[in-house]
Amino acid sequence: MLKLVLPTSQYLDSVKEAITEYQAHTSPFDIHCVDKMIEAAKDNFATYFQDIENKRQGINLPEGHVPNTTLWLIDDEKYIGSFDIRHELNDYLLQNGGHIAYQIIPSARHQGYVKAGLKLTLDYARKNLGIKKALLTCDFKNIASYRAMTSVMREWGGEEISPSLVNGHQEHRVWINTQPK
Ligand SMILES: CC(C)(COP(=O)(O)OP(=O)(O)OC[C@H]1O[C@@H](n2cnc3c(N)ncnc32)[C@H](O)[C@@H]1OP(=O)(O)O)[C@@H](O)C(=O)NCCC(=O)NCCS
Repeated sequence: MLKLVLPTSQYLDSVKEAITEYQAHTSPFDIHCVDKMIEAAKDNFATYFQDIENKRQGINLPEGHVPNTTLWLIDDEKYIGSFDIRHELNDYLLQNGGHIAYQIIPSARHQGYVKAGLKLTLDYARKNLGIKKALLTCDFKNIASYRAMTSVMREWGGEEISPSLVNGHQEHRVWINTQPK
């Protein structure tokens, strides 16, 4: 069964395998929370779970950062990917990043996981964080991500707004209702 969980040591064996995969297949669109997970593996996740929990509760946030919930997508007790939810938007996230970011392990791509995981994440954002519409953004070159976000937007309702120019590249921007039609 597909589910989202808050990061827990229960899935660490599977996460360590995922890290090996991520490291072997990096992309320019890899997300911050996965980089942090890879970094955490170096000291065997000594402070990782507390750091994640602090970010969720808004404790010791770096300047300009908003509270953030990291969720793991688990299928049949195996780690499949990470979803990050920023609890609110600031000026930076409004242009680049939005509410939700995601990454799926390379061996599980092209199987519809990101769309299924995104729907679970939207549901989580509505129920736990009171977010009614979620902003998602992606680089114009990230075709898989753009297709996934627009596909869910068409199914759940929402709108695509003007792209923004961020650090010299165009960023697609899509709002998706967190309550399905
Ligand atoms: C983007 C990413 C999450 C997509 O995950 P995925 O589980 O493979 O996506 P899905 O299988 O649900 O497919 C999503 C859509 O993209 C399409 N797609 C998937 N891979 C594609 C590719 N390489 N080129 C073009 N389209 C692609 C699928 O056909 C599907 O389109 P459809 O809705 O029209 O059928 C994954 O490639 C990834 O983790 N990339 C690295 C991190 C990243 O880019 N994160 C997003 C940052 S904005």
